[in-house]
Amino acid sequence: MIDLRSDTVTRPVPGMRKAMAGAEVGDDVFGEDPTLNLLQEKVAAMLGKEAGLFVPSGVMANQVCMKTHTQAGDEVIMESDAHAFQYESGGPAVLSGVMCKTVFGKRGVITADQVAAAIRGDNVHFPPTRLVWIENTHNKAGGTVFPQAEIIKIRAVADTHGLAMHMDGARLWNAHVASGIPLEEIARPFDSVSVCFSKGLGAPVGSLIAGSRDFIKKAHRWRKVFGGGMRQAGILAAASIYAVDHHIPRLAEDHDHARKLAGALDALPGVSVDLDSVETNIVFLDVSGTGRSGTEIEEALREKGVLVIATGPHALRAVTHLDVSGEDIDRAIGIFGQVMG
Ligand SMILES: Cc1ncc(COP(=O)(O)O)c(C=O)c1O
Repeated sequence: MIDLRSDTVTRPVPGMRKAMAGAEVGDDVFGEDPTLNLLQEKVAAMLGKEAGLFVPSGVMANQVCMKTHTQAGDEVIMESDAHAFQYESGGPAVLSGVMCKTVFGKRGVITADQVAAAIRGDNVHFPPTRLVWIENTHNKAGGTVFPQAEIIKIRAVADTHGLAMHMDGARLWNAHVASGIPLEEIARPFDSVSVCFSKGLGAPVGSLIAGSRDFIKKAHRWRKVFGGGMRQAGILAAASIYAVDHHIPRLAEDHDHARKLAGALDALPGVSVDLDSVETNIVFLDVSGTGRSGTEIEEALREKGVLVIATGPHALRAVTHLDVSGEDIDRAIGIFGQVMG
């Protein structure tokens, strides 16, 4: 099977498994896991932040940050297809009691003008605006990179209104490799950043929150409240250390594969891909011109050994990653051709 459903399907490589097996560990709820402490310091430094906090998932990273930044009744400005709004099971409402003020972006990008227009005035009728939320890369928009110049303009608006800024950087590594902008520079305008090790970097579990020492101290408490305090988590941290040490530059390969796949699929009858949106490792296909539904095509591809996800009545998603080789991409293109040609 060539599994293009998500970059979360990767399995730890032998070197990663070896690092996990040999990891020095302790009880992290007592703050005594040396491997976990090393990961937190290392990745916080890579992101140019004072401190880091390991959490089990990208969702927990985002929701702990939202909880730490806000109080119930506050409002958070975010793009209308943001993962935290669409795919985190209503977490903002359940866990933080906040309102999400969604703004329609273009390819996942909202502008400083849109953010300024979405900020509430000081009026007893309104929920107070507290936080601006940016997703980089943007999953539902097709792995698009948020332009740094716009981030800086949004920061200026946020500063004028005393708002905090969070970046959902589940795939920040891909944004960094695609744009060539250093991680620290991308992260600089944000008060908090979440990153995942379990997506393109190929670790089995784990995400991290980075921010000021004070922010991380507060986030640490919320992680405990959310049930994210772990014990000998150094076994997981060792996989994440291996991932950041070995798997960042190779993301360029995944991006090349995605571009090749996108170009070939766009040329098939009835299929269309927004080629300009394919900046990293995610490809969305519009198959409405084939006269078949996304799920029909998903099933036909599965029967021939390619896994993708139908994301709408006529939409499919394919994601490239560590466990998909150049040969796999060529084979997948051939199978797509048989199914839709
Ligand atoms: C942009 C973004 N943020 C957060 C998450 C949540 O990550 P997880 O599923 O590991 O909790 C995802 C998952 O795909 C994502 O794409």
